[in-house]
Amino acid sequence: MGRVPEELFTRRLLAPSILSADFAELGAEIDRVLDSGVRLLHVDVMDGHFVPNITLGPPSVAAVSERIHARGAYIDAHLMISDPDRYVEDFARVGVDALSVHVEVCPHLHRTLSRIRELGLAAGVAINPATDLSALGEALLFCDYVLVMSVNPGFGGQSFIPESLDKVRRLSELAPPKVAIEVDGGVSAANIVRLAEAGVRWFVAGSSVFSGGHPRREAERLQDLLGETPVRP
Ligand code: DX5
Ligand code: ZN
Repeated sequence: MGRVPEELFTRRLLAPSILSADFAELGAEIDRVLDSGVRLLHVDVMDGHFVPNITLGPPSVAAVSERIHARGAYIDAHLMISDPDRYVEDFARVGVDALSVHVEVCPHLHRTLSRIRELGLAAGVAINPATDLSALGEALLFCDYVLVMSVNPGFGGQSFIPESLDKVRRLSELAPPKVAIEVDGGVSAANIVRLAEAGVRWFVAGSSVFSGGHPRREAERLQDLLGETPVRP
């Protein structure tokens, strides 16, 4: 689990995705959302190959990581790239604390996850909406969290795929209790409580936090909803 304290794996955490922040004032946007008390920030890395979009890479993470860590928060990077093995070291170097790779592009997942852990990071496996949970296989024994995509990866602001709720329920029966379930895509006040009840611990939210222009207020609202939901053992 590395740099991410163990207690954060057993708590419900909102992880605002900076993909939907105003990039012209990224530092200030991060400060605003951290003012709500969030402990995890989600960073979406896209290569224009595994997904149609291109976002940011290690230099951009380096530019904001000190600011995030100084406020007691952690960086959760989600690699939507075709060759994640090539970049694991680079992301570790710039201060990422939790790193997820897609099961669809990693033929040697045990090796990839072990390397992420060796570097002191929490190791996550991300899974696309149309990929069956059976694809995770033995990787559930070698990872710290599973990121369930509830939209097709590539863009913020898409609608939540309703079948993801049942996928999370099935995964929470399947995964060892210490493996945290993260959900990513279309998360909002309309579905966050049901997702928590289904077993999600980490909730990525991009447009629902940033798009209305009041990231602190929206992050507080979503965290309040999570606080009112009993934790599933
Ligand atoms: C999508 C990314 C998400 C994205 C979520 O490919 O993985 O993390 O930022 O954005 P929303 O919450 O707007 O669906
Ligand atoms: Zn993501």
